[in-house]
Amino acid sequence: MGPRPRRPRPGPAARRPDVGGPHRRGPAAAADRRGPHRAGPAGAVRRGHARRRGTGRGLGPADPLRRPAPRPVRGGRVTAQLTAPATRTWQADPYVDALRAGQGPLFLRRRDGWLLPLDVERWCAGPDAADDTVLARCTGPVLDIGCGPGRLVAALAGLGHTALGVDVTPEAVDRTVRAGGSALCRSVFDPLPREGGWATVLLVDGNIGIGGDPAALLRRAAELTAPGGSLLVEVAAADVDERVEVHVEDGAGGRGAAFWWARLGARALDAKAEAAGWTRCDSWQTAGRHFSHLTR
Ligand SMILES: C[S@@+](CC[C@H](N)C(=O)[O-])C[C@H]1O[C@@H](n2cnc3c(N)ncnc32)[C@H](O)[C@@H]1O
Repeated sequence: MGPRPRRPRPGPAARRPDVGGPHRRGPAAAADRRGPHRAGPAGAVRRGHARRRGTGRGLGPADPLRRPAPRPVRGGRVTAQLTAPATRTWQADPYVDALRAGQGPLFLRRRDGWLLPLDVERWCAGPDAADDTVLARCTGPVLDIGCGPGRLVAALAGLGHTALGVDVTPEAVDRTVRAGGSALCRSVFDPLPREGGWATVLLVDGNIGIGGDPAALLRRAAELTAPGGSLLVEVAAADVDERVEVHVEDGAGGRGAAFWWARLGARALDAKAEAAGWTRCDSWQTAGRHFSHLTR
């Protein structure tokens, strides 16, 4: 997530006017909000065309499902693990409200009280120079795990890539589509299109933390990636390897349910990646952000 945990900004004064207004809370309200995004039990591929240009090689409706069975991955298949806790957490109102507003403040609060600031404004903007270094390393069809509001997916589509975002938060999927990308409202641990056929898989903005079990996520990413394909991971700047219980909060009283998250520095990633069948071929830093390029 952000470079260093920090204490919250002031509470009430920072509260956004939309929070607590039209947004109902609770499971029924959440189900209502999810409604338009789901075409079936596992969600639907949503495609936008507003900004698509280049070769126009989008995801054909049947195309992803014609992929051959994925190669076995060391450590066994991990599909459908961790799904339930992951899906009920980031969908918390503070995150949804921040995505709707296009801005924070928003934090992951650890149990010990520290706050990890979330860069909602950056996620809701277009790709910046650091993102460009990731985009430049993408080849072939690209899967963005935890795509959020979809700045990378939309940019990749604009560059002519087949690109799909996957995210458990309907508002994130909706924003991705509105930005001109394709996205699926589903957990990375659920069955996904083109399994074993993605040339590049992304875990950016700290998403190696998804599910709080990086080893399982790395094995899942290996299942999804084509032989010889790439996994581009943004790691923490610090030399950390932690699994933490967190919840999303807005610094003004709005908070979601607790869930597990992980933070990994480059060294910890190397060790876990190797065990999952990945080899690091490159790493780089730019604008205070740290990335690793893994291949399998
Ligand atoms: C740190 S934010 C990433 C923001 C995003 N990369 C962007 O460009 O805006 C983590 C994202 O992962 C999503 N997420 C959490 N658990 C997930 C899961 N199991 N599968 C897919 N996405 C998940 C959350 O909904 C959230 O949008």
